[in-house]
Amino acid sequence: MAAAEPPAAEVPGRMRAVQYDAYSGGAAGLKHVEVPVPKPKKKELLLKLEAASINPVDWKMQKGMLRPLLPRRLPYIPVTDVAGVVVEVGSGVKRFKVGDEVVAMLNPFSGGGLAEYAVASVKLAVRRPPGVSATDGAGLPIAAGTALQSLRSIGARFDGAGSKPLNVLVTAASGGVGHYAVQLAKLAGLHVTATCGARNAELVRGLGADEVLDYGTPEGAGMRSPSGRLYDGVVHCTVGVGWPAFEPLLSAAGKVVDITASFSAVLTSARHRVTFARKRLVPLLLWPNRADMEFLVGLVKDGKLKTVVDSRSPLRDVSEAWLKSIGGHATGKIVVGMEG
Ligand SMILES: NC(=O)c1ccc[n+]([C@@H]2O[C@H](COP(=O)([O-])OP(=O)(O)OC[C@H]3O[C@@H](n4cnc5c(N)ncnc54)[C@H](OP(=O)(O)O)[C@@H]3O)[C@@H](O)[C@H]2O)c1
Repeated sequence: MAAAEPPAAEVPGRMRAVQYDAYSGGAAGLKHVEVPVPKPKKKELLLKLEAASINPVDWKMQKGMLRPLLPRRLPYIPVTDVAGVVVEVGSGVKRFKVGDEVVAMLNPFSGGGLAEYAVASVKLAVRRPPGVSATDGAGLPIAAGTALQSLRSIGARFDGAGSKPLNVLVTAASGGVGHYAVQLAKLAGLHVTATCGARNAELVRGLGADEVLDYGTPEGAGMRSPSGRLYDGVVHCTVGVGWPAFEPLLSAAGKVVDITASFSAVLTSARHRVTFARKRLVPLLLWPNRADMEFLVGLVKDGKLKTVVDSRSPLRDVSEAWLKSIGGHATGKIVVGMEG
């Protein structure tokens, strides 16, 4: 006998959400509104959201910084990284059913994460197993995905085959991307030097970093490994440090993956490519994909990766969370819970 279908969830017509209607305004530009619950189309899921995590790209989009890359219509409900429960499936959905708990990255062109319900494509949704909380899951898509792809791009392997780079530097190791990068680098068997503020040194050591440098000291600003190691790879997660500072710290074919690449970093990278330089700067932009999301959720389930939670605010207090992210001093992930 076929298993009984779970009962269809009660979906209201309208929902609470937070949106902006201009490319300015910061936290003051966020408006609490009531809007219709979106309908899932083909190969889409309607999620009742439990948690969403804020990434710097969310408020950078609000500032209009990424408009050529990510044009979108206003008003816009920001935030892409979410965890929730499937309450309706669109046509052609086979992998999910009503009641499944998932982690998803919403399409940045349509956004939707700061709301009680959101529509996710099945392409960027993965099942969230028991043991992975909504908060832990919502932290993953952009931040952990970027950490993983940055490490892979410098040669780190996660299949047990052994990684090429031995020594890596992770800058801003206490931030959303950095704290995942430290843990993933250790999983790949690398020696990790990390930079962070003094207040987070113990935390970053606890995540596995072998050496920790306080960026507020001259030694930390210099980023030189205390044990004298040269870096085979750098996962660079902060701004204001250019190629000349990294170059003398690299091994012969050392590579700096810059996730915050400025225009001058892009030019430096192009120069390295055309001159076949062995030491290189490489800008990286996350390429979201389901396989990576599944891998990361699996690591959390197995207790090999954790989300450090800076704060979890209810939706009604989202302005504080937004301001905190803009301030640039989050420790781990800033999460918004949809329960209040
Ligand atoms: N290319 C991509 O696809 C991609 C993907 C994700 C993120 N990003 C970008 O990457 C950057 C980092 O993202 P994130 O989510 O990790 O940001 P985040 O969570 O806001 O980072 C905050 C952390 O950075 C630390 N920090 C600030 N300046 C530092 C410095 N000079 N040295 C060491 N640590 C420093 C802060 O420590 P204190 O509090 O002690 O100051 C804080 O813990 C952002 O610019 C973001 O837009 C790019």
